[in-house]
Amino acid sequence: MRIRDAEAADWPAIWAFARPIIEAGETYPWPRDTSEEWARSFWIEKEPPASVQVAELDGRVAGTVEIHPNQPGQGSHVANAGFMVDPAFRGRGVGRALGEAALARAAADGFHAMQYNAVVETNERAVKLWHSLGFETLAVVPDGFRHPVHGLVGMHIMYRLLKL
Ligand SMILES: CC(C)(COP(=O)(O)OP(=O)(O)OC[C@H]1O[C@@H](n2cnc3c(N)ncnc32)[C@H](O)[C@@H]1OP(=O)(O)O)[C@@H](O)C(=O)NCCC(=O)NCCS
Repeated sequence: MRIRDAEAADWPAIWAFARPIIEAGETYPWPRDTSEEWARSFWIEKEPPASVQVAELDGRVAGTVEIHPNQPGQGSHVANAGFMVDPAFRGRGVGRALGEAALARAAADGFHAMQYNAVVETNERAVKLWHSLGFETLAVVPDGFRHPVHGLVGMHIMYRLLKL
């Protein structure tokens, strides 16, 4: 597996798996009808210290991570990140590799900590993965997410220092 900075030319491959993930509405608190234009601009068009990387597996873009300041101004030393892995490549360690790469990149770019604001409690794979990478759940927002199948479910706010 190779993890590298994303390029504009990666977008069609990213959107091919990002679109069904967003439309499913089960893991991302984005509108299910988010436009490609908005998603592209949010995901790819980053200025430092924000960044976006892709994981390549079998010569294809298998997943991606974007990192950005969690807050503007006086909260901008804490990073936030978003992850998406192509379902065709799930369970092959892409998410773990991207999670580790994001921690390394955020630290290298000078962030103090990483915070995840919206890890849906039914997304057990993600909850388990982030805990195994050293994140603690600070709180679970009760009924914070409207899951299309499970109804109102909790949303984890997770945190990890980058400088240990
Ligand atoms: C969450 C996501 C990024 C994980 O990516 P992935 O490539 O499937 O993850 P990995 O293959 O690295 O597996 C991660 C862990 O999940 C666990 N896992 C795998 N399949 C699982 C399952 N069906 N249920 C619960 N846990 C599972 C494994 O234990 C693995 O841990 P290990 O490395 O100790 O074996 C990916 O599923 C995804 O893109 N989901 C949709 C978008 C999303 O949820 N983004 C994150 C929002 S917080």
